[in-house]
Amino acid sequence: MTLKHNEQAQTVPSGSTTIKGSNEGSLTPAPAAMSVSGTRNLPALEVQDVHASFRERRSKLPVLNGLSLTVEQGEFAAIVGPSGCGKSTLFHIIGGLLKPQAGQVLMNGQNVTGQRGKISYMPQQPALFPWRTIEENVLLAGEVSASAPPKAEALAEARKWLASVGLAGFEQAYPHMLSGGMQQRAAFLRALLSPQELMLLDEPFSALDALTRSDMQRWLLDIWEQNRCSVLFITHNIEEALLLADRIYVLSNRPAAVLQEVDVPFDRPRREEITEEPAFLERKRQISEWMREEQRKARLSP
Ligand SMILES: Nc1ncnc2c1ncn2[C@@H]1O[C@H](COP(=O)(O)OP(=O)(O)O)[C@@H](O)[C@H]1O
Ligand SMILES: [Mg+2]
Repeated sequence: MTLKHNEQAQTVPSGSTTIKGSNEGSLTPAPAAMSVSGTRNLPALEVQDVHASFRERRSKLPVLNGLSLTVEQGEFAAIVGPSGCGKSTLFHIIGGLLKPQAGQVLMNGQNVTGQRGKISYMPQQPALFPWRTIEENVLLAGEVSASAPPKAEALAEARKWLASVGLAGFEQAYPHMLSGGMQQRAAFLRALLSPQELMLLDEPFSALDALTRSDMQRWLLDIWEQNRCSVLFITHNIEEALLLADRIYVLSNRPAAVLQEVDVPFDRPRREEITEEPAFLERKRQISEWMREEQRKARLSP
């Protein structure tokens, strides 16, 4: 069992009590947060000490408070955190849509803070264009990039993928003709086929019913295990994070910082049965406890 206690836990917003004390017991203190020096590859993504706030009429709304995290090359990292804590804002900063007040975003070791076009992104709602067919929506991934393959090649590639995710026969359909799960698959394919190496997925399955969600998780695992791009995945669902990810960052209440970093060392391809294993259940229990603690703190703060 190697649940990690991240250094970042010390940057919990002032004024809220730190939950450091509740982490003891089965946990081993981590070595200083996954130092990448000494590894062969530079991380796909490093978010370093990012601070962000929104200006409100008379005051500032602090949203991110010294948040740092790393996604290694080919790693599937997940973020879980309280609702409204700043998760989507973090994605907007990584995607260059918002500039942080302090801190930086590095990709492959390069400072890309505030630069757009470096990531592929799947927002919370499947953002398919209603006036484009499924095939055209998926092809869109290539249109925005100068390095995209020529159209015929891209079309063949898109059709192959559509078939492999059960959307053969729906190439010419429009989004409204598809179920929620099918739309999600198309939106995910679009993100997957875009040429950027890092994929950000913002609660991609939250709008789906439990059965479809479980199908989609399996499906995402299969595709990702063949493809192994670097992924950062936001979810509310702790079990989903444990099933999919190699590493989980647990965020604090707003303004968010990384409270805990959890290693998820289960073998790949992941089997469904891991959800029954003691190591899985122990992590699930521990992360739930941390989240409940954050909820308690949120209720206590004015
Ligand atoms: N453009 C914005 N202007 C002002 N406040 C915002 C804006 N976007 C988000 N917020 C606020 O910032 C906080 C974090 O939002 P968000 O990042 O969407 O949270 P999460 O994705 O974790 O639920 C919330 O209180 C939200 O109301
Ligand atoms: Mg959000």
